[in-house]
Order: sequence, then C-alpha cells, then structure tokens
Amino acid sequence: MSDQLTTIDPLYQPVTMPDEVAEFSPEVEAEIDRHLAKYPVMRSAILPLMFIVQRERGYLDPPGVNYLARRLKLRITDIWEVATFYSMIHTKPIGRYHIQVCRTLSCRLLGAQKITEHCSTRLGIKPGETTPDGKFSLSEVECLGSCGTAPMFQINFDYHENLTPQKVDQILDSIG
Ligand code: FES
Repeated sequence: MSDQLTTIDPLYQPVTMPDEVAEFSPEVEAEIDRHLAKYPVMRSAILPLMFIVQRERGYLDPPGVNYLARRLKLRITDIWEVATFYSMIHTKPIGRYHIQVCRTLSCRLLGAQKITEHCSTRLGIKPGETTPDGKFSLSEVECLGSCGTAPMFQINFDYHENLTPQKVDQILDSIG
C-alpha cells in the first residue's frame, strides 16, 4: 500500500535530513534573539527567523531547518510545512535574481503566460529552474497584490508592472 502511495501521490517528496545543524555568528544570533523577544509564543517568530536563515545560507537548507527546529522548539515537519507553503522561502538554491511572474486572474487575463514564455525563451529555463550560471531563477506565483497594474512580476524585492515582452527585455538588459 505504501509503495502505491509513493508512486501515485504527487505530494510525496521524500526529504533526507542530515544531522548537521547550521551555525551563525554572534551578531546573527543576537538578531534572532531580538525577533524572538517580540513574540509571546516562540513559534510566531518562525517567518522572520526563516528569512534570516535564508539570507545567511542562500536558501533554507536542511541544516538551516534543523537549526530552526531546535531554536523554536518545534518538529522538523513544523518547519518544513511552513517553508514549503510560502513562495518566498526557498528550499533549494535560488538564482541571484529571482523572477516571480504572477499567474493569478488579472495577470493571467492580461498576458501573464506570454510574459512567462518570454522569460523562459530568453533565459532558456522553465518555471522552477535556475540558469546554469546561477544568475536567474524563474517562478510562477499567486497574486502579488498588484492586480491593477497587471501583468506584473517581482524580481527579488522589486515590483515591475504593466509588463510587455519589450519591457521585460529592458528590465533584464538593465540587470545585465
Ligand atoms: S493577479 Fe497578478 S498581482 Fe494580483
């Protein structure tokens, strides 16, 4: 029965967790302490701490997950279920520029698919992939709250709106 589930359940993703636990500098530990002090319940600090671990390690790697579980006194699965829910938390290495194309209703009606295809063709990667030089990652995400200026995408923390293929080229050219 479990073998059957392994093959038919698309959500089944075995993850190997090593014993290694991430370590951080005293400055980063102090930053984490400051966040923990803000919340009456420790687990409420899970997202700010995830961002710190991701910033320090490039992505939320298994040692980083182990660290969070220890620090927040949670199970590995508690950390993992939050990490895999949010598109801004990366559980695998991500490019220096992360292009997140909104694919929800307004953007979709106004050409999001064309924008994604244009990015794919130009960069030679599909959504979910990273260029071999590690420069760009491409993702499709749900509504980014900028529906009035659809279609749009986010690159790292910047929004780019009212996109056309020509505008995408200009933006990517400016990144270099
Ligand atoms: S539908 Fe794209 S930002 Fe809301």
